[in-house]
Amino acid sequence: MNILVINGTLRKGSTWHIRQLLLEQLSALTPSTIKEISLPTDLPGFCAGCFQCIVKGEQFCPHHERVSAIEQAIIEADCIIMTSPVYSYDVSAPLKNLLDHFAYRWMSHRPHPSMFKKVAITITTAAGAGTKHTTKTMRESLEFWGVAQVYSLRFNVAAMSYEDVSEKIKKRININVQRTAKKVITEQSKPKLKVSIKPRLLFKVMRLMHRSNTWNLTDRNHWDQLGWLGKGRPY
Ligand SMILES: Cc1cc2nc3c(=O)[nH]c(=O)nc-3n(C[C@H](O)[C@H](O)[C@H](O)COP(=O)(O)O)c2cc1C
Repeated sequence: MNILVINGTLRKGSTWHIRQLLLEQLSALTPSTIKEISLPTDLPGFCAGCFQCIVKGEQFCPHHERVSAIEQAIIEADCIIMTSPVYSYDVSAPLKNLLDHFAYRWMSHRPHPSMFKKVAITITTAAGAGTKHTTKTMRESLEFWGVAQVYSLRFNVAAMSYEDVSEKIKKRININVQRTAKKVITEQSKPKLKVSIKPRLLFKVMRLMHRSNTWNLTDRNHWDQLGWLGKGRPY
């Protein structure tokens, strides 16, 4: 399995350790190759909000070179692991910046067909609160990109570093990580990956919208060329 890790922090703290455990579990269950995106190093520039990607095409983004390298890594992955600690009840700013750069890949614009054949796992940790909201931010993007199945790991670790996490919490982390790894591999090894209800529903609604889309021909042409305005489906 080709795994891409999108690290929302450079810190080797609790979130990083949980991702490490997950990678070990997944690799033990199936031969895996692992690629990493580290933020903000791999995408230091902020989204300028210029609308160029949405209106004219992604090649007009001021950060196109870096964004397209990340996109290529996403396309090649069977499994995306997206991680972030909770900062002020949400994802880290570097991860939010990456999500903003990929707004053009939302189903309301130009989802990539390969997304519907991928699984994703989100990982977040907080001292005490905010993992639900942070998980939601990551899941919304993944589901709006069209990812077939999204799994989530979230923990209140009551600590500023992994060394300070109690044995009781570490035990719970281990159990949940093992369970999630098994679920992912079971799904991935099926001949055809099941696409869950949310991306299916989003696709149906957005398809209807794009059939009468006269306001953004870049988006509409994308759907048209893939045959999605007719009978074609990405899953
Ligand atoms: C800027 C900043 C904001 C934070 N905001 C929250 C928060 O809203 N809720 C919370 O429970 N913990 C918050 N924390 C604590 C971290 O989420 C928590 O310690 C997390 O496990 C750190 O992950 P890491 O060890 O992978 O860096 C914050 C920490 C920082 C540095």
